[in-house]
Amino acid sequence: MEKKLQASSLSFLLFLLLLPTTFTGIVAINELYGIYNGTAKLFVFGDSYVDTGNSPKPGAGSWKQPYGSTFPQKPVGRFSNGRVLTDYISMFLRIRSPTPFKWRRYVNKTRLRYGMNFAYGGTGVFNTLVNLPNMTTQIDFFQKLIQENAYTKQDLDSSIALVSVAGNDYTNFLVKNRSLEKLPAFTASLVNQISLNLKRIQSLGVKKIAVTGLEPLGCLPQISVASAYQNCIEPLNLISNTHNQMLLQAVQNLTHEISDGTVFMMLDLNGAFMTAINNLRNHTGRIQHLKFAFCCVRAGMYLC
Ligand SMILES: *[C@@H]1O[C@H](CO)[C@@H](O)[C@H](O)[C@H]1NC(C)=O
Ligand SMILES: *[C@@H]1O[C@H](CO)[C@@H](O)[C@H](O)[C@H]1NC(C)=O
Ligand SMILES: *[C@@H]1O[C@H](CO)[C@@H](O)[C@H](O)[C@H]1NC(C)=O
Ligand SMILES: *[C@@H]1O[C@H](CO)[C@@H](O)[C@H](O)[C@H]1NC(C)=O
Ligand SMILES: *[C@@H]1O[C@H](CO)[C@@H](O)[C@H](O)[C@H]1NC(C)=O
Ligand SMILES: *[C@@H]1O[C@H](CO)[C@@H](O)[C@H](O)[C@H]1NC(C)=O
Repeated sequence: MEKKLQASSLSFLLFLLLLPTTFTGIVAINELYGIYNGTAKLFVFGDSYVDTGNSPKPGAGSWKQPYGSTFPQKPVGRFSNGRVLTDYISMFLRIRSPTPFKWRRYVNKTRLRYGMNFAYGGTGVFNTLVNLPNMTTQIDFFQKLIQENAYTKQDLDSSIALVSVAGNDYTNFLVKNRSLEKLPAFTASLVNQISLNLKRIQSLGVKKIAVTGLEPLGCLPQISVASAYQNCIEPLNLISNTHNQMLLQAVQNLTHEISDGTVFMMLDLNGAFMTAINNLRNHTGRIQHLKFAFCCVRAGMYLC
């Protein structure tokens, strides 16, 4: 089970996500707050940063200790010691965290009014090292539910889509291709496919669509272990920065292209991570090891 880039849970980042941001198109999560009065539906696509239980029990680490240890105090399929991004955004929207697609037939039907979570940990926009539904297939599931009238046009008018792309595509590319030369072309094709996915979600009727920026890959514990967790590996952070610049442009392009009132947003996850990590540096500029290790545990990054 691929867990390279699956660290998540933002309890310690939460207040950072509340910081305002001045870049057009990028939003801090608090900007979603108060838009809705508890009637919104949240549809979630992506990976372990947002999966709340779709990944299958055999094989997925998310069903094993110590995941879930602080919330809800047992493993329930989240790749985190506690809540994941989906749960926080649901709170901001004043709704319950939407049901994982896998449980849709077994939950009280009233739960479906909060939307649905189609995300699977380890997956990407393209196929990755895990054999689980990629984002295209996740959107297929959503489309099928709409065709089955599980959600009406009116339901979709008051919905938000949360799209997480936390980097499993890069892991897959780097493991299989090992080519830094081809990386820029890969980023371009990845962002292009993300853009097509956002457009498709829009064409299905969702009116507010938020996609996550990529966190600093070089700071993930599996990477920063190379510096004994004292520094992030900067060349890998450049991958994130390039990705984010291009993604922001794609989001802005969609905003210009689609003028029916649909709102496209990029959530500033990178800024949130960097602020949190910089708070852990002492005056020498190095990340204080013990604190960082602690923070990793809090952040569900148990591999550090
Ligand atoms: C909640 O807000 C939405 C969007 O502003 C509005 O259409 C709807 O009528 C409101 N519902 C209630 C119960 O206030
Ligand atoms: C489903 O949930 C609703 C609202 O919470 C509740 O009134 C109802 O009894 C539940 N139905 C079942 C079958 O549990
Ligand atoms: C997603 O997965 C399906 C099934 O494996 C595959 O046919 C499709 O090409 C994949 N989509 C992308 C964008 O890679
Ligand atoms: C990965 O490498 C193979 C073989 O060199 C190449 O055909 C393929 O296009 C590369 N994939 C990407 C995404 O660049
Ligand atoms: C955005 O649109 C501009 C102008 O059409 C184009 O040159 C650029 O490649 C687009 N960028 C992305 C990431 O879609
Ligand atoms: C700063 O952090 C580094 C890395 O953990 C540590 O080696 C160093 O002693 C710390 N310096 C101070 C003054 O705390």
